[in-house]
Amino acid sequence: MFLKPILSVLYLVTTICFSSVTSLSKHPILIVVSFDAFRYNFFTTETLPYMNLYRTKGTYAEYLTNVFPTKTFPNHHSIATGVYPEVHGVIGNSYYDSTLKKIVKISPEMYNYSEAVIPIWRWNEDQGDGRVSASFMWPGGDFTYQGKNITYSVTFQNGFDWKKRVDQTIKWILDPEKPANLIMLYFEEPDTHGHAFGPNSVIIKDLLAKLDNITGYLHQQLELNNLSDKVNVIQVSDHGMTAVTPPHFINITQYLKNGTYEWAGASPAIQIIPHGGFEDSIYTALKNASKQNGHFTVYAKSEYLDRWHYKNNPRSPPILVMAEQGYALDDLIISAPQYAKKYNFTLTNQSEFGVHGYDYIVDEMHPYFMAIGPRIKQQTKVDPFSTIDLFNLFCGILEIMPTKNNGTTKAADMVLANTSGKYSLGTILMMSVGGVLVALLLVSLAIVFTLIAIKRQQSITTTAALNKRFPQTFQNYIEAQHLLEPEDA
Ligand SMILES: *[C@@H]1O[C@H](CO)[C@@H](O)[C@H](O)[C@H]1NC(C)=O
Ligand SMILES: *[C@@H]1O[C@H](CO)[C@@H](O)[C@H](O)[C@H]1NC(C)=O
Ligand SMILES: *[C@@H]1O[C@H](CO)[C@@H](O)[C@H](O)[C@H]1NC(C)=O
Ligand SMILES: *[C@@H]1O[C@H](CO)[C@@H](O)[C@H](O)[C@H]1NC(C)=O
Ligand SMILES: *[C@@H]1O[C@H](CO)[C@@H](O)[C@H](O)[C@H]1NC(C)=O
Ligand SMILES: *[C@@H]1O[C@H](CO)[C@@H](O)[C@H](O)[C@H]1NC(C)=O
Ligand SMILES: *[C@@H]1O[C@H](CO)[C@@H](O)[C@H](O)[C@H]1NC(C)=O
Ligand SMILES: *[C@@H]1O[C@H](CO)[C@@H](O)[C@H](O)[C@H]1NC(C)=O
Ligand SMILES: *[C@@H]1O[C@H](CO)[C@@H](O)[C@H](O)[C@H]1NC(C)=O
Ligand SMILES: *[C@@H]1O[C@H](CO)[C@@H](O)[C@H](O)[C@H]1NC(C)=O
Ligand SMILES: *[C@@H]1O[C@H](CO)[C@@H](O)[C@H](O)[C@H]1NC(C)=O
Ligand SMILES: [Zn+2]
Repeated sequence: MFLKPILSVLYLVTTICFSSVTSLSKHPILIVVSFDAFRYNFFTTETLPYMNLYRTKGTYAEYLTNVFPTKTFPNHHSIATGVYPEVHGVIGNSYYDSTLKKIVKISPEMYNYSEAVIPIWRWNEDQGDGRVSASFMWPGGDFTYQGKNITYSVTFQNGFDWKKRVDQTIKWILDPEKPANLIMLYFEEPDTHGHAFGPNSVIIKDLLAKLDNITGYLHQQLELNNLSDKVNVIQVSDHGMTAVTPPHFINITQYLKNGTYEWAGASPAIQIIPHGGFEDSIYTALKNASKQNGHFTVYAKSEYLDRWHYKNNPRSPPILVMAEQGYALDDLIISAPQYAKKYNFTLTNQSEFGVHGYDYIVDEMHPYFMAIGPRIKQQTKVDPFSTIDLFNLFCGILEIMPTKNNGTTKAADMVLANTSGKYSLGTILMMSVGGVLVALLLVSLAIVFTLIAIKRQQSITTTAALNKRFPQTFQNYIEAQHLLEPEDA
């Protein structure tokens, strides 16, 4: 019969057009990976074959400028929202709530500062049309925003198997019912061990090698699932880390009278909240002490630097004590012996601990940035840019309008591939071949449906007719692609 060659062509065409994937979001797909405390210059001190490979294949910046304080939660939320900590309200890893008279740590409350702040995962789903967001342990990713939860989220569990995080990410992308087009994927290293052993330790060297390995694993899984040319991967960190030894721990509470203040936060930035009536005496005592000591600075709220974008928020403390780079404060005096006990090492004056949270102009606080994927420029190094600009870049990749934020389009301008021209010869060829194939497919479909209509008139059910004539694999294939849907109409 003349039907057979047509079907062969149709089979070939659909195989070529659709073989690579079964079900994927129709929207651009983006994975944002964060390695907590991965310092920008680990690329020069460590051997990171996979990270170097994908970094140089795609686009990278030597470093990013992050937000103040260079702590985990403020920075992850600025990455996710494009606004400064004074706007999103996550002004520290903890803060003192003067109204409730308690210290607030990571919780829905911490992230529920303003209904006007919309993280990228919420914003992506808000654009509808089947967009689906996922968060694998991203700080704040499992909370409710604007009264809604995103489709997929996993709450933080320290030490959760890394490969399983990647496997779940791929599963979300391939989900037959609700394929994700945005996944926020978080790793708590090298931060967790970096605090206890310092960023120069062998333990951190090993962890960096493992993070390189998991980067390789992620890309291998994308390749195995034929997703490399469909998925954009951005890898960033929230901040770097610097080493501090016990002789550089400064006791600042010795200058304060017990019971006259509250404090929150952790080295190097301690928030001081004086009780009523003690504001001036505490500020004066600390200022005086800072002059004597010379390795920490004291700021009243009115003195916070404008460029920090940290002041204009009721959660910002009345006084901030900031250690100089390479120094730490009371909390490390307390936690250093706890680390030694937990990890079974002998605490000495040479023991190194990891600290971050200093001003973002401190070199060792800088995060890294690398990106690769169909919407990302290839083999490009871009100028350093601000963490705040990432939100607009995410929106550019996802092809959604950004919500109001503090970022510029600098990152998007530099990183996004120019899709309105400058096609390589290979791309043009592929597009022409693709065009011919699509045309063939449409023609074949038209013929098939005409034949089907004829068969129907002969009162043979379509499915029976198809089953009789078509190879079973083809049947399954066609059904999987919902190509029989028009028949229902
Ligand atoms: C968030 O804040 C709003 C307004 O203050 C409040 O109504 C709501 O219950 C809060 N939600 C959470 C999860 O804390
Ligand atoms: C969002 O998820 C939280 C935690 O699982 C749950 O308690 C809450 O009811 C959910 N809210 C909505 C609007 O689904
Ligand atoms: C990661 O390390 C494991 C264990 O050494 C190894 O089996 C695996 O092949 C590595 N993965 C990659 C992507 O190199
Ligand atoms: C990926 O594509 C190749 C070549 O087209 C195919 O053989 C393989 O089955 C595909 N793998 C998946 C997981 O779709
Ligand atoms: C450790 O450092 C402190 C402060 O510099 C010093 O007073 C102390 O003697 C040192 N201890 C040892 C064992 O070296
Ligand atoms: C700081 O010094 C004061 C006064 O000597 C002392 O009571 C306090 O325990 C010290 N703080 C720490 C964390 O060691
Ligand atoms: C400081 O005050 C707290 C509670 O008011 C009390 O438990 C603690 O013993 C006091 N510490 C000193 C060194 O006076
Ligand atoms: C300033 O510091 C010095 C040395 O610690 C101390 O003697 C003096 O009393 C302090 N002055 C005030 C106003 O706290
Ligand atoms: C802790 O370290 C000491 C000395 O290195 C060793 O003898 C001991 O077995 C270790 N204990 C644990 C629980 O690892
Ligand atoms: C940051 O963005 C918020 C929300 O759009 C706005 O209210 C605020 O004024 C902006 N801040 C700066 C410094 O641009
Ligand atoms: C994109 O490429 C086209 C054609 O080469 C060029 O005219 C246009 O200016 C480019 N746009 C950007 C943003 O680089
Ligand atoms: Zn962090």
